[in-house]
Amino acid sequence: MNIIKANSIDELNKKAATLIGGQILEKPDSVLGFATGSSPLGTYDQLIRMYSSGALDFSQVTTFNLDEYIGLGKGHPQSYHHFMEEHLFSRVNIVPENTNIPSGVAADERAECERYEEAIAAAGGVDLQLLGLGRNGHIGFNEPDRVFAKQTSVVKLTESTIEANTRFFESREEVPQEAISMGIGTIMRARKILLIAYGEDKKEAVEKLLYGEITPEMPASILQLHPNVTVIYAD
Ligand code: F6R
Repeated sequence: MNIIKANSIDELNKKAATLIGGQILEKPDSVLGFATGSSPLGTYDQLIRMYSSGALDFSQVTTFNLDEYIGLGKGHPQSYHHFMEEHLFSRVNIVPENTNIPSGVAADERAECERYEEAIAAAGGVDLQLLGLGRNGHIGFNEPDRVFAKQTSVVKLTESTIEANTRFFESREEVPQEAISMGIGTIMRARKILLIAYGEDKKEAVEKLLYGEITPEMPASILQLHPNVTVIYAD
């Protein structure tokens, strides 16, 4: 594991964006895995800056997002489709057809999970997967469990995750209870992984991810077994 302690959130954002930008420069048609939530916002801002200054070109990049809430369509302001459009896709020259996010409103959710997994494989797999970290150690929406999920599936969000995500909704009742998420297996199949985390409420999870026991009760701990992981964290 490549472990980097950043001195500030700004430094964390710049380091993370540099790694993603470097991946695109090295392989312009990279397949990137993206995350939503608060953690990657500053990193996406840095990527947009790099694009605006002419340093980066997203025209050949393909993306796969980690997850989407079940029940929220593309147009819903809290959907992850909307998030990615607002915070990254509409601000760089990525080709919309090359961006992939599971559908939260598919008639057959299980078929959607299979379709998504096949689409990742058909694209040649993910070159670099960006991850945030849940307070309870989740990655994607893989919540603490008795086993590690092998592939993209329908998941039930835990109370702690619903509570953490209430800040994005008008009320707790509006937070969806289920999501479609890449599995731990899907994430581990990425050739490189970059996890970013900062803040007091992530400290314990970061500690366990880096040095704790590898257990599905702490989903991110499995990253200790991945051959090419970078963790950038800040207080
Ligand atoms: C988002 C995702 C989640 C978040 C995690 C941290 O696509 O899959 O695992 O990365 O919940 O969220 P923030 O960054 O909002 O603290």
